[in-house]
Amino acid sequence: MQVIITENKIAASKKAFSLLQQDIAQGATVLGLATGSTPVGLYDEICASELDCSALTAVNLDEYVGIAPTNPQSYHHFMHQHLFSKKPFKQSFIPDGTNRNADEVIAEYNQVLADHPIDTQILGIGQNGHIGFNEPGTPFDSQTHKVQLTASTIAANARFFASPAEVPSEAYTMGIGSIMQAKHIILMAFGEQKAAAIAATVDGEVTPAVPASVLQTHPNATIIIDRPAASQLR
Ligand code: GLP
Repeated sequence: MQVIITENKIAASKKAFSLLQQDIAQGATVLGLATGSTPVGLYDEICASELDCSALTAVNLDEYVGIAPTNPQSYHHFMHQHLFSKKPFKQSFIPDGTNRNADEVIAEYNQVLADHPIDTQILGIGQNGHIGFNEPGTPFDSQTHKVQLTASTIAANARFFASPAEVPSEAYTMGIGSIMQAKHIILMAFGEQKAAAIAATVDGEVTPAVPASVLQTHPNATIIIDRPAASQLR
C-alpha cells in the first residue's frame, strides 16, 4: 500500500488524476467510480482535461435503494452532474436503486462486474472505515449485496439531504471482494474527520471491523490524503 500525503485536496485530486491517466495510457478501459464529496475534485480534473473518455466504461460502487435516478440525491444523478454530462463515457453502470428485487439487482450487477473487470477503482472512505457501502463487519470476500446503512453513515450522509429522516436506510453496493478484484485501487480521503479511519486503514490490524484495512493486502493500492487526514498516522 502506497501512501501519498499532499498539501491539500486540490493537489491530491491532481495526483489521483495523473495516476489515472497513467493507468489509461497503459491500457485501462474500465474505471470503478465512487460518489461522495471526496472524488469531486478528481472528476473536475477529468472534466477540465483533454482526456477522451469515449472508449471508457464506468462501473459505480453503489446506489441507495428506493431512490429514482432523477432524484438529486441519487448516485445516478450525482455521476451525471459531476462527470458523465461533461465527459461522455462509452457506457456506465450503477446498481438499479429503483428495483426492490435485490436478488435481481445483485445478479445483474455481478454480471456487469464479470463482463467488465475493473482496471482502476476510485474509492472514498466513510468515517467508520467503510468503502462503497460496505459497513464494518462485511466479509472481505463479499460480492454485490444489499446493505442496511449504519446510524453513523446515515448521520454522515444526512448533509446531502433535507433531513436525516430522508436518508434511505438501505443501499446496493459492490462487495469488498468485488472491489479487491480491481487491478489498481486509489483511495482518497480529506479532512480531520477521516484521520481515525485512515490511521486504522493504514497502520491498524487488517480486520472486517475496518473494511478499508483490507487494502493492506491488495498488491497495488494507493492512498492519497491531505495533511489533516494523515494527522493520526504513526
Ligand atoms: C458514502 C459513499 C462512499 C463514500 C462515503 C464518504 O457512504 N457510499 O462511497 O466514500 O460516502 O463520503 P465523502 O467523500 O462525502 O466523505
